[in-house]
Amino acid sequence: MQERILTGDRITGKLHLGHYVGSLKNRVELQNSYECFVLLADVQALTTHFNHPAIVRDNLRNVAMDYLAAGIDPNRSTLFIQSMIPEIAELTVYFSMFVTVNSLRHNPTIKSEAAERGYTQLNYGFLGYPVSQAADIAICRATLIPVGEDQVPHIEQTRKIIRRFHDLYRPVFPEPQALIGAIPRLSGLDGGRKMGKSSGNAISLDSSPQQVNELIQKATTDPERIHKSDPGHPDICPIYSYHKAFNAPQAEDIYRNCSQGTIGCSECKARIAGQINKLLEPMNERRETISKYPKQIDEILISGTERARVLARETMQEVREAMGIAYFGPNTFQ
Ligand code: TRP
Repeated sequence: MQERILTGDRITGKLHLGHYVGSLKNRVELQNSYECFVLLADVQALTTHFNHPAIVRDNLRNVAMDYLAAGIDPNRSTLFIQSMIPEIAELTVYFSMFVTVNSLRHNPTIKSEAAERGYTQLNYGFLGYPVSQAADIAICRATLIPVGEDQVPHIEQTRKIIRRFHDLYRPVFPEPQALIGAIPRLSGLDGGRKMGKSSGNAISLDSSPQQVNELIQKATTDPERIHKSDPGHPDICPIYSYHKAFNAPQAEDIYRNCSQGTIGCSECKARIAGQINKLLEPMNERRETISKYPKQIDEILISGTERARVLARETMQEVREAMGIAYFGPNTFQ
């Protein structure tokens, strides 16, 4: 079977290194072999940012730039905007008829995101965003979903929704599978569990070498290590986790020297900053070229969304037929 890839990101800020290792790197490679769709999830962003729509609007083109700079090729990948595909909203409604509120309440990612954000009451749209994500995936008939580890419960929920749809009506969609990056989760600069754009502990992909150096120098390290000769604990140090992610060939060496107290934190930091800058350099160059042609970015988004919409309409017609609510056949109004 020919695989079809769909991934996407909530448009709430620029993308960072965590996105890169968790899924973006995978996408850039996969587009060479498979049909790829990349979703700019602005509706999903509004589930938490409905009171700040300007953040969503302002980041749409930033994220598009991040994609292009990271090597997403618009000739091989279809970039599209979620809010401009009304069929996604329509399919979300049909799915929501049979998805139980309890299954959403028990979704571990919903639970932890709600806790992180301090939500005591869950809005309908927030609680239901896994259903809308299932619609994103189903409408594209995607089979492989490169995402970070935190998204696995949503892909699991999508599979359940699709199976239920097939049991109720008839098979229309393939069952998608999650594809997780080699480094599923990158820790934050503050030593937190996860690099995140909201918590201010991230290195965004558009960082200059100087910004990377500063962020890394300020980052938390093993708190028990005060003098260079103190033995370090690389397993709890975010800097070491970055060595594993971005400096794999030297990581073992760093581990040994840190544990034995023979490399200082500032040298260790300088080395990883150098590696990160090496990774970001071609992205920064590409970004500089692309940013000279802002109109072209809009054209890429418009033509990608148009392409995705054709596919979404076809899928929705089959959905209506499967459900027995295609009253007048296809293209009634065209
Ligand atoms: N929830 C995803 C995230 O936060 C973004 C997303 C929305 C997505 N729709 C999707 C990812 C469909 C994969 C497929 O990263």
